[in-house]
Amino acid sequence: MSRLRALIGPSILNADLSQLYDESQKLLSNGADYLHLDVMDGHFVPNLTFGHPLVKCLRSKIKEAFFETHMMVQNPEQWIVPMANAGVNQYTFHIEPVSNVADICRKIKENGMKVGLAIKPGTPVETVERYVDLSDMILIMTVEPGFGGQKFMEDQMTKVKYLREHYPLLDIEVDGGVGPSTINCCARAGANMIVSGTAVIGASDQAATIKLLRSTVQQ
Ligand code: DX5
Ligand code: ZN
Repeated sequence: MSRLRALIGPSILNADLSQLYDESQKLLSNGADYLHLDVMDGHFVPNLTFGHPLVKCLRSKIKEAFFETHMMVQNPEQWIVPMANAGVNQYTFHIEPVSNVADICRKIKENGMKVGLAIKPGTPVETVERYVDLSDMILIMTVEPGFGGQKFMEDQMTKVKYLREHYPLLDIEVDGGVGPSTINCCARAGANMIVSGTAVIGASDQAATIKLLRSTVQQ
């Protein structure tokens, strides 16, 4: 783990979205390494959030931060160009609804973004493993995507362990129910990119919480 950086990317899903700029700035000034922006289309998941217009507005005010969009959408190919134009740095999409994963990865790179591949809890790790070489990061979901504040699924750690054993330098992200009480599990399994929503947003001391998450992973 020592050669991989531990990176903490708060999810703004459960923030006060009417104050998104202030909430984002607060997270960044409290030590967030990147922002994890959850995009939901009401089809791939039973919830709706926001799209590229909002991301573009946020980018116009926050020039430097690394933006990852977690695309929980039925047709990820459709939003590559708009999200690139909005200033997204990493485009993470679910492989479950698509048949042309490799084409989508190529298109994301052509548009100047990093590629993240995400799988839901029910999707076997082998399904995503075959695309490792085309991606910059694999996201192992630790809840069913769609909502913040759900319970961490510890059984997903077998996927993280498997990937870490086989790909020592791969960026592996976990997302869903991750916070001070579950970070040990994630760290032991080998995750190095940590998404945390409610645990960070709702923390009385955000900076301390982010620091704790990072130091647990970086040991
Ligand atoms: C769930 C989202 C997550 C979620 C994380 O579908 O992808 O990013 O908002 O929030 P917590 O940490 O509260 O589970
Ligand atoms: Zn997410």
